[in-house]
Amino acid sequence: MARLEGWARPLRGLGGGIGSITNGFYRVLGAPGRLLQDTLNGSYLGHPTHGLLTDAAVGAVTALLVLDAIGVFFGVSDLETASRIVLGFGALSAWGAVLAGLTDHKDIDPGDARNVATLHGLINIIATVFYTAAFFVRLGGGLAAGRWLALIGFVLLSSGAFIGGHVVYTFGVMVNANARSPGRRAKEFTPVMAVADLPEATPTRAMFGTTALVVVRRGDVVHVLKETCSHAGGPLAQGTLKGDTITCPWHGSVFRLTDGAVLHGPAQTREVAYAARIADGQVEIEGPTG
Ligand code: FES
Repeated sequence: MARLEGWARPLRGLGGGIGSITNGFYRVLGAPGRLLQDTLNGSYLGHPTHGLLTDAAVGAVTALLVLDAIGVFFGVSDLETASRIVLGFGALSAWGAVLAGLTDHKDIDPGDARNVATLHGLINIIATVFYTAAFFVRLGGGLAAGRWLALIGFVLLSSGAFIGGHVVYTFGVMVNANARSPGRRAKEFTPVMAVADLPEATPTRAMFGTTALVVVRRGDVVHVLKETCSHAGGPLAQGTLKGDTITCPWHGSVFRLTDGAVLHGPAQTREVAYAARIADGQVEIEGPTG
């Protein structure tokens, strides 16, 4: 599918511009913007919200296509009210998916993944405009024109959905970066570094076999997470501490040190966390927990 990457490459500048506008929009909104962003990323759900909304939209417009086909090929004439409800629901879900998609898109780093995601988004925005127009045209009694608009919308939305699958399955966008390497397991408390090498309140990288960890000590209390940020693999050992949280340096996801819970997105998957203690001058870990 390298051809898809080639087609999307001219959208590089546009993708960057859209990302900057979305970032600026959330910045202006302040704290409510953060809440909206976390909701649309799916940080509270533990699953990207975009996927839920696209399922709703694609399901609704597929149902519309079936209703329209029954009307056209079997001459059933009393389906229009149901069709309008399904179409309205589909268009509304599609606009929700556009907002969630833009929110995910702003945190994709420059490159083929963002270019293809931009292409996916543009096609789906156009499809959503067609569906919205179809809804209002059909509401005004324009059945034939509304059906044509919806049919064009369906072709566009299906193409956009196919490209969206490429964004997720080829580039792993909004896929848990720790899914395939959940962290080496310590069946019992096992030393990973000397306390003497661990400065106070400073995220410090340590290795447990091939698993990179971020270790944080405050006095005699120590917390250990896997170092790889679940959002897109950012290095949490270069993150910023604030209270009992650590912020990823790449896109600002905030994780609770005690259990790896996501407090702010764009991450939506809990960070891998270990039980940790200090014993005999060593930091020891057990787990992962949870
Ligand atoms: S890699 Fe994106 S927030 Fe950490």
